[in-house]
Amino acid sequence: METVLLSDCESDLSAAAKLIANGQIVGLPTETVYGLGADASNENAVREIFKAKGRPADNPLIVHLADFSQAKDYTTSIPEIAYTIAERFCPGPITIVLPKNDKIPLVTSGGLDTVGIRVPSHPVMHRIIELSGRPIAAPSANTSGYPSPTSAEHVLRDMNGKIAAVVDGGQSRFGVESTVISIESSDTVRILRPGCVTREMLLEICREVIIDDAILHELKEGQKAASPGMKYKHYSPKADIKMVEASTDDFRSYIAEHAADGGYALVFDGEETDMPCRCLTYGKNSLEQAHQLFARLRELDEIGAEVVYVHAPSVDGVGLAVYNRLIRAAGFEVIRV
Ligand code: TXA
Ligand code: MG
Repeated sequence: METVLLSDCESDLSAAAKLIANGQIVGLPTETVYGLGADASNENAVREIFKAKGRPADNPLIVHLADFSQAKDYTTSIPEIAYTIAERFCPGPITIVLPKNDKIPLVTSGGLDTVGIRVPSHPVMHRIIELSGRPIAAPSANTSGYPSPTSAEHVLRDMNGKIAAVVDGGQSRFGVESTVISIESSDTVRILRPGCVTREMLLEICREVIIDDAILHELKEGQKAASPGMKYKHYSPKADIKMVEASTDDFRSYIAEHAADGGYALVFDGEETDMPCRCLTYGKNSLEQAHQLFARLRELDEIGAEVVYVHAPSVDGVGLAVYNRLIRAAGFEVIRV
């Protein structure tokens, strides 16, 4: 199959919407990362998504809608707190897990009786959902296990020849996937995957915000994942990622001892001077680090880096999302200096 590259002009957006309405898969830009979109109600189309990504069948897909008011068409009940959260953060980088109805096939929900609902803010994605008139199932558009794509070029690199088209909507603004939450009670939510809607932001609305265990710790043998995606190794480039928690000075000394003979380091902006090995930078604060992380991991593979020492971010705010992606890429090993 030839994968067509589409632009963000209106005629290309309606071409993309038509492909989706006809059961095809299209790479789509969102404000978080690029997604692999298909009609969420079309079982065959959804099966093709799993095939293109090489994704395990029990890992559910998020369903994207043009407006949160449509969530009631695909769910059996929506608690008040979900509406309050949606009012504040939708459209935007958040996914709310709700009990699904029969319009969402089990193939889409990975066999679960819930569905993650997301209302993206990217104007291109929004327009394509509207034009297609379909709920759009879309996982991140990477090969399963590899870092998520934040540009159309990344999508093509993973999916060329496997999907009908990719729509180029520029670089993803946030760079990490949406915050996934489940509703625990009338005033409590659980973060299943951290993103740019942070725990601190949710605490302005909710009495309690639980950070699921699987965000910072490896699941133990037999422990059930609240979010199936947390079972699988993720965000891993080919390079061996080593995550180092240290001050700049201690990080530098650690690298001098361990990586001076050919490793790479991924450091904060401004730290690259005097680092005793080859360096890439990934921003000076958490928002910038989220924006750049996946592109840098892909770049490190392209230049053939085999071992990469990453200076670990703090876990405050958006930092928790960056830390979560890195600790998974590092196989849950953290070196504390
Ligand atoms: O920002 C995003 O969310 C991107 C863009 C394309 O929208 N999508 C994305 O989808 O990251 P994906 O499939 O790569 O990651 C979805 C995560 C997985 O870890 C999955 O297990 C979890 O959300 N998830 C989806 N539906 C769920 C459900 N019903 N219950 C629990 N976890 C769910
Ligand atoms: Mg993904």
